[in-house]
Amino acid sequence: MSSIQEQSPQYTRVQYVSLSTQGVITEKIKSQILASSNKNNSKRHITGCLICVKDMFFQIIEGKTDDVENLYTTIVKDKRHNNVVCVDKSQFFNEEERMFPSWDMKSLDVDSLFSAKKEVLICGENCNPLDPAHKRVIETAFSAFTTLMGSLFRAQQVFKNYAQPSVSRFVREGLNPLCIQSVETEKIVLFVDLVNYTTLTEIISQSRSASEIVRILNVFFTIVMEIVEEYGGDITKLIGDCVMCHFDGHDSQKAIDCSLKILQQLELLRNETTDPFEKLIFCTIGISKGKVILGNVGTVGRKLDYTVIGDSVNTSARLQSFASSTQYYLIFDENVKNDLESGDSVIFCGSIELKGKRNTVNAYTIENEYNRRLLKEDLKALYCSVSLEM
Ligand SMILES: Cc1cc2nc3c(=O)[nH]c(=O)nc-3n(C[C@H](O)[C@H](O)[C@H](O)COP(=O)(O)O)c2cc1C
Repeated sequence: MSSIQEQSPQYTRVQYVSLSTQGVITEKIKSQILASSNKNNSKRHITGCLICVKDMFFQIIEGKTDDVENLYTTIVKDKRHNNVVCVDKSQFFNEEERMFPSWDMKSLDVDSLFSAKKEVLICGENCNPLDPAHKRVIETAFSAFTTLMGSLFRAQQVFKNYAQPSVSRFVREGLNPLCIQSVETEKIVLFVDLVNYTTLTEIISQSRSASEIVRILNVFFTIVMEIVEEYGGDITKLIGDCVMCHFDGHDSQKAIDCSLKILQQLELLRNETTDPFEKLIFCTIGISKGKVILGNVGTVGRKLDYTVIGDSVNTSARLQSFASSTQYYLIFDENVKNDLESGDSVIFCGSIELKGKRNTVNAYTIENEYNRRLLKEDLKALYCSVSLEM
């Protein structure tokens, strides 16, 4: 074995928290889990501890990296809990570094520990739960621990909702996003923009409050983001009324299929909704493929974006705004066009200029029933009819 191989850490320790799907964790659930753990962990020499507090689990598992990874994948899928968040994943070199060398999986039942009628050790002192002074110490320690676990979950929920999905994913997998190096890579960048946002807000604000504008934006964002995720894309960020997202460089067809699905879903929404404002949700989409830099941009401690930067981003934004001057919702560049499977009926839409670039970009679209823009006069008539209805 080479010296590099000898030095590479063979062991992994995973710490995670999760929420029981059945409320407060019962004795039955605990004993089921421990039965599996005792049976399986000793076979793979996995050690660790499982702490149960009310409806929360906190577990540490450690052992050979492959065994720990496999077990963690199994545990995450277990229907008895959800909201599994990896708090830390670290590696170590040898057996001596295990935290729980002799525990296959020791369960620490914090609820019963603190309600026990025997002495417990807190801060190096024996506390007797029957002694009122000690009881207070025990109760305080218990409530501090429960509060800490609850805060961890709340912080995680806030983080999950506000952070970029790729950053949340890194954290869930135990990676520190701050340590991820920038890479140059090929990506397909999409800009999906709500059509006539300004007019839409004017119409809505004539009769409704600002929260109605936010609701309409969220209806649009939810449809777009769910479909992008379904097709394997990553949401890069929301920019005003626009969703910027990206796909891997070899996924041009997926990016096109995803865009057509978005157009189809929006048409379905407009046809089926009884909400007058939802009938006005249209979007234009620009897609460009090329080299980008993927990484952290901004200032540590102030504001960081894990984002893509590069020519394709500018081109995609430009193609999206170009769509407004065509009869189509979806416009893409030549690199995307060259990747498409045969049979797709591609249409050349013209060449567009980009700021600061000598060469023009050829713009294309695809023949599809959902990719035909409403004529300007029809769109105007639609806006008028909704305004009158209000
Ligand atoms: C919070 C929690 C912790 C778990 N910990 C372990 C564990 O340490 N080892 C284990 O084998 N299974 C553990 N499980 C159970 C696994 O998800 C899975 O059900 C089990 O490994 C299946 O093996 P079996 O078919 O042999 O029971 C845990 C489940 C939950 C919900």
